[in-house]
Amino acid sequence: MKTIFSGIQPSGTITLGNYIGALKQFVELQNEYNCYFCIVDQHAITVPQDPATLRKNIRSLAALYIAVGIDPEKATLFIQSEVPAHAQAGWLMQCVSYIGELERMTQFKDKSAGKEAVSASLLTYPPLMAADILLYNADLVPVGEDQKQHLELTRDLAERFNKKYREILTIPEVRIPEVGARIMSLQDPTKKMSKSDPNQKAFLALLDDPKQIEKKIKSAVTDSEGIVKYDKENKPGISNLLSIYTILGNKTIAELEEMYHGKGYGDFKGDLANVVINAFKPIQDKYYELMESNELDEILDLGAEKANKIASLTLKKMENAMGLGRKRK
Ligand code: AQP
Repeated sequence: MKTIFSGIQPSGTITLGNYIGALKQFVELQNEYNCYFCIVDQHAITVPQDPATLRKNIRSLAALYIAVGIDPEKATLFIQSEVPAHAQAGWLMQCVSYIGELERMTQFKDKSAGKEAVSASLLTYPPLMAADILLYNADLVPVGEDQKQHLELTRDLAERFNKKYREILTIPEVRIPEVGARIMSLQDPTKKMSKSDPNQKAFLALLDDPKQIEKKIKSAVTDSEGIVKYDKENKPGISNLLSIYTILGNKTIAELEEMYHGKGYGDFKGDLANVVINAFKPIQDKYYELMESNELDEILDLGAEKANKIASLTLKKMENAMGLGRKRK
């Protein structure tokens, strides 16, 4: 059975973008692959985080993984900082990375732009991400489109390591969803929807209540034409809403264009809000049930134990290949 690894940062409340680009795919893939799903808290601290909020977000993300349908009997769910091999292998991957290639990463450029104090870890985020994936010999990494560049770098670093030391790292393939690979901000449809966007109206959070969902969709930026038509170039706002509708409402774009032919954006947005509310309802019900129980800690303890076993084996192989420490059997 082939292996999958993917992670999500507990850097805010999970958005519809994270759900469509990542979580929804994970649920579909867990039946066919040996899956490792991670809460990448060490990545979250590459930008400032309030410790108490981070703790809460970690637990909340764990509950959401399960609430959307990840089955801990099938997939290993764990917290990155509870598996020390990640930080250790992250250092090793930094040692095979070049500053120039890290500075070229779009996420680094976006997140450091205009900031006076940028942490060194924001630059070295991709080698840590490479370590996350390579420790589990992952064959496939399901992510949204924004992570494609980091995945390409992961492949380069793994190939470089294998050539320089020994052929021990599996070169992973990236898997990006055909529709919804990049859900855009509701307030600026040329920018991706992000959980750390300071404008709350820009994203739909999986835990938003029906009133918030309605309000956010009603105030989503569209255009003055009033025609429900998919045209990403010229009508990015309505096209983004159509993408969300087609994924959550199980209707094709052509069917939706036909349904709303001659109607305004008001009707379309009202119906879309109901589609989103209905899609989130079962997830939210399960989420609140889990947050009340002890089940989460049991799942995460077991996940950390399983992840530690495989990750420490790969780390040992990497360290041996690089000549670190004393020779171990
Ligand atoms: N807008 C999006 N559309 C589709 N997929 C998306 N992903 C993120 N935003 C979208 C996918 O979600 C997974 C988890 O992402 P992450 O938490 O590792 O960090 P990110 O990609 O930087 O996501 P955010 O929401 O923008 O987080 P912040 O604001 O903290 O930087 C990834 O698979 C990602 O592709």
